[in-house]
Amino acid sequence: MDLNDQMQGSRREWWRHAVTYQIYVRSFADADGDGIGDLPGITARLEHVRDLGVDAIWLNPFYPSPQHDHGYDVADYCDIDPLFGTLADADAMVERAHELGLKVIIDLVPNHTSNEHPWFQAALAAGPGSPERDRYLFRDSPGGPPNNWKSVFGGPAWTQVEAGPGEEGQWYLHLFDSTQPDLNWRNPEVGDMFVDVLRFWLDRGVDGFRVDVAHGLFKAEDLRDQIVVPGHERMSGASAGESMVERTDVDEPMWDQPEVHEVYRRWHEVLAKYDGDRMMVAEAWTQSPESMARYIRPDEFSQAFNFAWLLAPWSAEDFTRVITGTFEAVDQVGATPTWVLSNHDVDRHPSRYGGGARGLARARAATLTMLALPGSAYLYQGEELGLEQVEVEPEFRSDPLWFRTGNPGRDGCRVPMPWSGSAPPFGFGPTGGQPWIPQPAEWSELTVAAQAADPASTLAFYRAALAARRTFSETAGEGIELVEAGTDVVCFRRGPITVALNCGTEPVALPPGEVLIASGPVGEKLPPDTAAWLG
Ligand code: BGC
Repeated sequence: MDLNDQMQGSRREWWRHAVTYQIYVRSFADADGDGIGDLPGITARLEHVRDLGVDAIWLNPFYPSPQHDHGYDVADYCDIDPLFGTLADADAMVERAHELGLKVIIDLVPNHTSNEHPWFQAALAAGPGSPERDRYLFRDSPGGPPNNWKSVFGGPAWTQVEAGPGEEGQWYLHLFDSTQPDLNWRNPEVGDMFVDVLRFWLDRGVDGFRVDVAHGLFKAEDLRDQIVVPGHERMSGASAGESMVERTDVDEPMWDQPEVHEVYRRWHEVLAKYDGDRMMVAEAWTQSPESMARYIRPDEFSQAFNFAWLLAPWSAEDFTRVITGTFEAVDQVGATPTWVLSNHDVDRHPSRYGGGARGLARARAATLTMLALPGSAYLYQGEELGLEQVEVEPEFRSDPLWFRTGNPGRDGCRVPMPWSGSAPPFGFGPTGGQPWIPQPAEWSELTVAAQAADPASTLAFYRAALAARRTFSETAGEGIELVEAGTDVVCFRRGPITVALNCGTEPVALPPGEVLIASGPVGEKLPPDTAAWLG
């Protein structure tokens, strides 16, 4: 099939319009009382997700792992960490999700393994020049690291291993923590192993994969130094949170190499042999919408996270620019866009927008705007409760970013969910047991149970917004038309609905029509920090 034929093909795959709810496994629900969330906990709480009105769940990694980066350091790709349960628990979770009409997306981590993966242990044992070392990026480099690359988590991207008698220890590359050695994707064994992993989980019935660091995998073959222009650095790769800035002028021999696309063409074919529109979504922090679009050509990924939306500051001009840029990029390749405001790597969006009542008002407004846009949207557990970033005490921090840089890191968006009750653990696990990160006492007012009983709550708002989206999205079409409404207002029409978001400081006129749903109180005018759908 050529590009045009494929673009004409079915555009009704479920994932094109889905809302997916991200579950951070260790922080969702704890069935066995060890203070860490697990798969049986998730299974028992899936009705909450169904009642929210989403279409799918994405689970962060649950594989056996020493947990140095909470599961993004995988020691075995085809099993479950005993912390989270068993393969039978995973099967039960998938079955229950499907019974409730929810698709299941799991996380795949192909850029690196754990240093406890049998391949890395074999590489250490086998020594320099061995086929075992060739599955990773080991180099001789007497006197210092082989190049100037930095780890995304801070510090050098190389660690030297112990030397055998009479040798200098070799260095291995790790773009993340030293416990996460990068694989050598130029070795065909690596690619073959991941195809087996895909099939293992597809055979167990999962509907898709979120692919971690999808723009990693291949590095410039000569591993040359990165040219660093002072003031133009970019914390790219992932996980950089608010320090991530969109740039198109940075030399990146470690990311986004052309060879990576061959991998995704192969995976696309593997998925296409299965029934039910299995999908894969790329986590690719590339430098521009154009480079992001290369990952979603018709024979590669189904979709890619659109981080430009999450990175946009609170400004109508910036939001509008991202909307326009996104459509231009995805249209080039016949793909549909995605939208996301929060995930496990960034500060929660109410906090990014200033926190408190204003941060929450803005967060609800940005969410309502996002849910009106064509394409699919990703929500992160707890945003339906309006949770803010938590300042986690240093003794409870476990993010490698914190250990390597002293930056507070990402633990503050990973605090366990408050479900019910007036004191921690708020129903996260059995009473008495405390979660792995303490929950703030004020969360007693934000539990699912408390908000379910309050029609003015953020939870009630999310349920209403998702129900409204369902009602209109079938007929709303895949295009939008921007409407001029002044410099402080994002305004567009999609099918029968007009959407307006006021990012300014003064109330503005509402577009014509009846208010169908709003993110906060609306009178004659649209107040600041508020969005509305009119029809
Ligand atoms: C994940 C992070 C993780 C990193 C290394 C990112 O893409 O989202 O949580 O630390 O990859 O695997």
